[in-house]
Amino acid sequence: MALDMKGKDLISIHELSREEIEQILDTSRILKMKNKLGEIYHPLKGKTLGMIFQKSSTRTRVSFEVGIWQLGGYGLFLSVNDLQLKRGETIADTARNLSRYLDGIMIRTYDHQDVVDFAEYSSIPVINGLTDLLHPCQVLSDLFTIQEKKQSLAGLKLAYIGDGNNMAHSLMFGASKVGMNISICSPSGFEPDSEITRLARLDASKAGANIVIEDNPSQATQMADIIYTDVWTSMGMEGEEEKRLESFEKYQVNSTLLEKAKEDVLVMHCLPAHRGEEITDDVIDGPHSIVFDQAENRLHAQKAIMALIM
Ligand code: CP
Ligand code: NVA
Repeated sequence: MALDMKGKDLISIHELSREEIEQILDTSRILKMKNKLGEIYHPLKGKTLGMIFQKSSTRTRVSFEVGIWQLGGYGLFLSVNDLQLKRGETIADTARNLSRYLDGIMIRTYDHQDVVDFAEYSSIPVINGLTDLLHPCQVLSDLFTIQEKKQSLAGLKLAYIGDGNNMAHSLMFGASKVGMNISICSPSGFEPDSEITRLARLDASKAGANIVIEDNPSQATQMADIIYTDVWTSMGMEGEEEKRLESFEKYQVNSTLLEKAKEDVLVMHCLPAHRGEEITDDVIDGPHSIVFDQAENRLHAQKAIMALIM
C-alpha cells in the first residue's frame, strides 16, 4: 500500500525510511515515463512552491521551477536578497508568513540549522535544496539514476573521491538506507563529519551495508561500481580555494584512477564541475560518465518528492 507522505518535510535522507525512499524512486520512474510519453499530469494544480535561494543554483532552481509547473502548480523564486530576511526579519516570522500563502517551500542556505528552524515554524512541507551539511534532493535523484542504470542498489559499491562535504554526507545517508556500500576517500583534514558518519553507520548496519572512510583513492576505487566526485571548494568556502587545490591534488578522478574500478563503472558528479580539478575532461565527457542523466533526473525525482509531500 502507498505510504502517505503528505505534509512531510524533506530535510535529510536520514529521516526517511527505506520504504519512503523506495516510494520516491518508484514515483520518479512513473513520472519520468509520463513525461517521456508527453502525458499531462497535474496532481498539484493550484498549488504554489516558494523557492528561497541564499546561494547560486542552475540545476536546482530550474528543475524545481519546471517540475512544479509540469505538475500543474506554480513556482515562485525568492532571492534572499529581496526578502525582508536580509533586513533582519526572523526565520520564524518568515516561515509563519510564507506558510499562509504557499503550499510548499524549497530552501537553499549556508547554515543547515536555518532550514531546520524554517521547517519548525512552517506549517507547510519544507524541502532542503542544499545546505553546507546536506544535499538530499541530489542524492535521491542519484539513487534513482543508479537504479535506472544498474537495476538495483543494494550490494553495489560507490567510491566518493573528494571533500567530506554536503554531497559526501547525503551520499552516506542515502547509500546506508538502501544497502549500498560506500567508501568516502578524502585527504586528511577533509573527512566527513563524525556525527553524520556515526548515524549513517547505524543505518548501514541495519541494511547490511558497509561504510569505509579512507584516504587512498586507488584503494577506494578498487572494484567500484560507481565513482562519484564533487568540487573541492564548495559554495561558501571560496577563501580556502588555494589551500584546497594543494590538499586535493592527488584526489582527481582521471583515466588512471578509473582503471582500478570495474570495467562498467559509472562516473557521477552532482555538477557544477571544475574541469581539470576534481575531474578531467576525458572522464566527464567519456563513455562511463552519466552526469547529464543525473542532472535530468533531478527534474523527475523532485517532481516525485513534490507530488508525494505537497
Ligand atoms: N547539483 C546542484 O545542486 O546544482 P546547482 O547548484 O546548479 O543547483
Ligand atoms: N558541494 C557543492 C555542491 C553543489 C551542488 C557545494 O556545496 O557547492
